[in-house]
Amino acid sequence: MAVLITGGAGYIGTHTCVELLNDGYEIIVVDNFSNSQPESLRRVKELTGREFKTYAIDLLDAQSLERVFTENLISSVVHFAGLKAVGESVADPLWYYRNNVIGTIILCEVMKKFQVKNIVFSSSATVYGQPDQVPIRENALLKTTNPYGRTKHMIEEILRDLYISDSSWSVALLRYFNPIGAHKSGMIGESPKGIPNNLLPYISQVAVGSLDELRVFGNDYETKDGTGVRDYIHVVDLAIGHVRALEKIESSDGVHTYNLGTGKGYSVLEMVDTFEETSGKSIPYTILGRRPGDIPICFAETTKANVELGWRAERGIDEMCEDTWRWQSLNPNGYEQSNTESETSVPSKAADFFVTK
Ligand code: NAD
Ligand code: UFG
Repeated sequence: MAVLITGGAGYIGTHTCVELLNDGYEIIVVDNFSNSQPESLRRVKELTGREFKTYAIDLLDAQSLERVFTENLISSVVHFAGLKAVGESVADPLWYYRNNVIGTIILCEVMKKFQVKNIVFSSSATVYGQPDQVPIRENALLKTTNPYGRTKHMIEEILRDLYISDSSWSVALLRYFNPIGAHKSGMIGESPKGIPNNLLPYISQVAVGSLDELRVFGNDYETKDGTGVRDYIHVVDLAIGHVRALEKIESSDGVHTYNLGTGKGYSVLEMVDTFEETSGKSIPYTILGRRPGDIPICFAETTKANVELGWRAERGIDEMCEDTWRWQSLNPNGYEQSNTESETSVPSKAADFFVTK
């Protein structure tokens, strides 16, 4: 039996593939490579010494997805595939609703047809919108403020309804806080296309010289130094959280919702200082006005995941910044450069990659 990983070539997906493979799981990856490259999966194989099948298909293509379930014995699904840029979702909401919500409905229809009823879903702290209090508990009011966040909220509701209709489904809704960092090896990490939206990828591209300076969005919030505070979590801790969640849903039915964060908040300027110390690079910055839609402060209450999953984030911000820097300095252009420099014969186009092992 294998675990199907949708969006397995992406940032969090690759790190989760590594943890699952190292734990002895068989995996199968489905990805349309709209925001990733086959090179990331080649590196997962190199890192773990394990082989797995990859299908370069879109979740919206129900027929091809059915083929994956026909050709393989699948026990559970870890569902990462989705678009994730808030600004893009405001500019083109239909694209986001179609890709994320319809993509998930098609996935669930195929799962239902093949009697596969275990799913771990990538939700987000964005479903809480501006929280009434911090730390945020799982039972806080959901009042997300943008189309991307609404796709996450809608998918959570769809999965809950699925369980109400058939109690043999088992669902984990994982609400991630702010994933950063990279695998210790420096071989896999976050490789955003274009100019990054998120803080750490932006800082690390300033450090490596690809961008001139950081723009700090607002220093007049009611926080320790006026800049926004977030709960940054190391992507490897997050990946291990998925392994624990998978164990949970494979042993019990129901819908289980967990915050995956550290429970600690750091400001933008604290992140800049820590990155400078760990990388030895200076990060010039300018203070600008607030970014529309940003909230002042957000961090998780993590007791539920600690107790029910036996999971806790163990890596601190020094390690998160160190690992981000190792990845960025070894791969200044992310995975972009490696297709030309690589000595392997891994195909560089998704179209050449349909089912490889
Ligand atoms: P990512 O973009 O690196 O990975 C997502 C992967 O899904 C990509 O490889 C992409 O090509 C693939 N994909 C997208 N649409 C697809 C489709 N229709 N069919 C097949 N493949 C498709 O993103 P990530 O940071 O690894 O995030 C993974 C999941 O976690 C996403 O659902 C995202 O919304 C969620 N999430 C991410 C963050 C974050 O800050 N990174 C925070 C909260 C939640
Ligand atoms: N920031 C800057 N300059 C930048 C980028 C960010 O000052 O160039 C600041 C933001 O204003 C915010 C903090 O850094 O105060 C963190 O911003 P990010 O964009 O890194 O993260 P967000 O918390 O805004 O959002 C991220 C994802 C969302 C997800 C959310 C919670 O982008 O999709 O975390 O998981 F929903």
